[in-house]
Amino acid sequence: MTVATLPPFNTAGAELLTRLARPEVRELPAYNAGLSSEVVRQRYGVQHVARLASNENPFGPSPAVGQALTQLSLKAGLYPDPNCRALRSAIAERTGAQPDQVVVGNGSENLLEVLCQAFLEPGDRVVTLLPSFGLHEIYPRMMGARVQMLPVTPALEFDVDAWVAALTQGPAPKMAMLSNPSNPVGCMLDAAAFRRIVQATPQETLLVIDEAYYEYALHTNGFPDALAELRAQNRPWIVLRTFSKAWGLAGLRVGYGIASDDRLVQLLDRVRTPFNVNLAAQVAALAAWNDPAYMERCVSDTVVQREWLISQLRAMGVVMAPSATNFVFINLQRPNGPVAEALLARGVIVKPWKEVGYESFIRVSIGSAQDNTLFLEVLQDILRIEKL
Ligand SMILES: Cc1ncc(COP(=O)(O)O)c(C=O)c1O
Repeated sequence: MTVATLPPFNTAGAELLTRLARPEVRELPAYNAGLSSEVVRQRYGVQHVARLASNENPFGPSPAVGQALTQLSLKAGLYPDPNCRALRSAIAERTGAQPDQVVVGNGSENLLEVLCQAFLEPGDRVVTLLPSFGLHEIYPRMMGARVQMLPVTPALEFDVDAWVAALTQGPAPKMAMLSNPSNPVGCMLDAAAFRRIVQATPQETLLVIDEAYYEYALHTNGFPDALAELRAQNRPWIVLRTFSKAWGLAGLRVGYGIASDDRLVQLLDRVRTPFNVNLAAQVAALAAWNDPAYMERCVSDTVVQREWLISQLRAMGVVMAPSATNFVFINLQRPNGPVAEALLARGVIVKPWKEVGYESFIRVSIGSAQDNTLFLEVLQDILRIEKL
């Protein structure tokens, strides 16, 4: 059977589409999801690809996940539990929350999206970090909110004074979107700085604490216990975490939030698609959650690798931010595009940062020992050639 290809839109058609789209959508920047391993293999003819652009766990999920998934095909014809009851109870039990305070999403990015859909109206102000995780800017803008982005300091740390000023001056922002530790910088607010920001946040501001790298940050002294701090507050908040990083489940898309109270979860329930977390994702996340020792081994290994990589890079004279995560943010002090491209040509995928002011930075995930070594060797070659 031959399939007729449609002629491409002419200019008038393209203009029509642009006019029909919501103005907020027309202006949205595209999320930079990077290249797949397959594309890199095909485009550059490399055998091995080092995936160091998405902050995945190089060891993958616990073997218990594989076992749980093998029994799944019998149930694949049935809708999953729309309320993720088993997973929410398990998360609640270990985090000291009530199951009704827990919400699960198709990745934590899904929860960022439904939070914006549930709370933001055109013109609302949202405060977040610069540089930022792309969706902290894109989803608020999708709803027509104005996003105030607070740059990190020249030393690549949170500018706590700027946060306090942005939260306390003028009308209360509708939402504060704070990733701790930050992505892409990797810097961390310690307990005292976190408390200062929480206490400066007006009660009418929904405080969204994105802890996608929580399990790694626990290895850095001073990382705040956000849940304990926030539970002492009479205010709306939600802490987001994910199964995509330390738990090795990025491909199955599961993130969760622990909210100040069940009414916040009920509001999100009205906005999310009813079956937002599929059956395989629920089963896999529960199996992973029930094997915390495996996750902790992965995280400990990654932290050791990170410190080794940082020491090697420093010895090469490379400048970077401190990191409480599974990645490092490197200032190449030259445009990042050609370096990232040269790394790709040798099969190493990193993320060249594109936000204005940060175009000399690349974000590099901590991978397996083999991939970290490959990255170092290739970077060294590139920097040596560029010096000639
Ligand atoms: C800060 C931050 N938040 C949220 C996410 C989204 O993670 P996921 O949707 O895979 O749970 C990421 C992923 O990179 C992230 O870095």
